[in-house]
Amino acid sequence: MDVFVQANKLSLIHTTSVSTELILEKLFFLKKMVGNTPLTLIDNVNGNPISAKLEYYNPLSHSVKDRPAIYMFEGAIKKGIPNLEETIFIEASSGNFGIAYGLVGRFLGLKTMIVIPSVVGEETFNRVQKSGAIVEKTPDGYCPRRNERDGAIVKVKDLWLKDPKKEFLNQYNNADNIRAHFEGTGPEIWKQTNGKVKMVVMGAGTGGSIVGIARYLKKMNPKIKCVAVQPQMNHHIQGLRNYQESLEPEIIQKNRDLIDDWVEVSDKEAFLATEYLWRRGFYVGSSSGLNYFAAKKIARKHKNLNLVTLFPDTGLNSFKLLQRNILKRLSLRK
Ligand SMILES: Cc1ncc(COP(=O)(O)O)c(C=O)c1O
Repeated sequence: MDVFVQANKLSLIHTTSVSTELILEKLFFLKKMVGNTPLTLIDNVNGNPISAKLEYYNPLSHSVKDRPAIYMFEGAIKKGIPNLEETIFIEASSGNFGIAYGLVGRFLGLKTMIVIPSVVGEETFNRVQKSGAIVEKTPDGYCPRRNERDGAIVKVKDLWLKDPKKEFLNQYNNADNIRAHFEGTGPEIWKQTNGKVKMVVMGAGTGGSIVGIARYLKKMNPKIKCVAVQPQMNHHIQGLRNYQESLEPEIIQKNRDLIDDWVEVSDKEAFLATEYLWRRGFYVGSSSGLNYFAAKKIARKHKNLNLVTLFPDTGLNSFKLLQRNILKRLSLRK
């Protein structure tokens, strides 16, 4: 069934029941629906094939974030949450995770609240709200500065500490975020490349994707290299962070040994690469362009590398931003 039809059907199944057994059954069902996204050959540079995992095929948020949203709820429910009915699950997100978390929460009959940076705009705000989550804004940019009083995470922590009914699973320091990729994305890449993958290249927000994937692939073959891509400072790439200007999440801090190298990509390079992908029919967000640019840059310097990257989301999730940075430039060029 078409993934978009699936997502619409799912959003119609709405329940207020909060029995733990039923929630676990629903999570089992969700885990079957999400993941197993296609891996597609997108380029061959210098004899090195570059393939991308099309995470926008995930049916809820049309992004990679469906995976951790499901696993984080599963981990929390299995550990046991007293008074589930009253609990509000609260998180910070710049969009994709908020949409996934809100939709999964609604399907499970649980309440969610998302704090998002105001810079993401009305459209994303509305989509998160439509997912069923309560939404709060903070004055952050795409990459909240190291200023402790400023971040969406600080606001979430404040709200959480003040209200015992709020539950903060913290995607930036949650082992289930890593597990989603260790049990899902990593094994899928291994299988889809018949174990031939030599390097994975991708940007990081929470770091859950790169750490979970790296941990699994290195377990299968310790020679596989993992490269993290950083956007420039003061960037406009939704979902990613530059760790020189923004606090490094605990997931990355605790697992730096899994990352073999770091490369930086500018906004200009990322948006140009996104524009190129659009022309080829991949209507992805700008982090896909950033990942693709980085993978090409690395491929030019190597031989016999089978490279895999992620296309983390659809361009529709940040359409206004892409309209400003791609469509406007395209129309100016005519
Ligand atoms: C569009 C996009 N790309 C990449 C990422 C990075 O994923 P992770 O948080 O697993 O590092 C995110 C995370 O929100 C995202 O929304």
